[in-house]
Amino acid sequence: MKSKALVEALNEQINYEYFASYQYLAMAAYFESAGLSGFASWMRAQSEEELFHAMKIFDFMHDRNARVKLLAIKEPVAEFSSTLDVFEKTLAHEQAVTASINALYELSLQEKDYPTQVMLQWFIEEQVEEEKTVQEIIDQLKLIGDDGTGLFQLDREMGARRGATPENGNA
Ligand code: FEO
Repeated sequence: MKSKALVEALNEQINYEYFASYQYLAMAAYFESAGLSGFASWMRAQSEEELFHAMKIFDFMHDRNARVKLLAIKEPVAEFSSTLDVFEKTLAHEQAVTASINALYELSLQEKDYPTQVMLQWFIEEQVEEEKTVQEIIDQLKLIGDDGTGLFQLDREMGARRGATPENGNA
């Protein structure tokens, strides 16, 4: 890969995906301690999915003969005021990831790096899906409000989600 700026930006994106994984794991820990095992399991699957995203870029960089540099992962937010608060923070986080992917795409256009553009198209589609899914959960949580039975039911539905990996076709 010729562009140093692009190599640096891809390294940063790997770090961002690792941070996302760490953040979702912190959310899983929060839900475990709150007795919401379905939400915890959903967050755990989300955390694993982010590792898959990081490794997708890691492998791509090596395929292009670029050197991966792993950077320090910052500490995730660990305390939340409610289930809704967790998912509102999740949406804000995913919107920030989308902005980061879009900036990477813009850079790959400037640098005329066509393979990176193709690789990033997968991420652009994935971000549309991620934001949509989280927005739907937020809508459901708002409908449920303070209804404990509704939250219990949604927790069970969230627990039915499998880890999103290419093996089970959910990635
Ligand atoms: Fe890798 Fe949820 O974005």
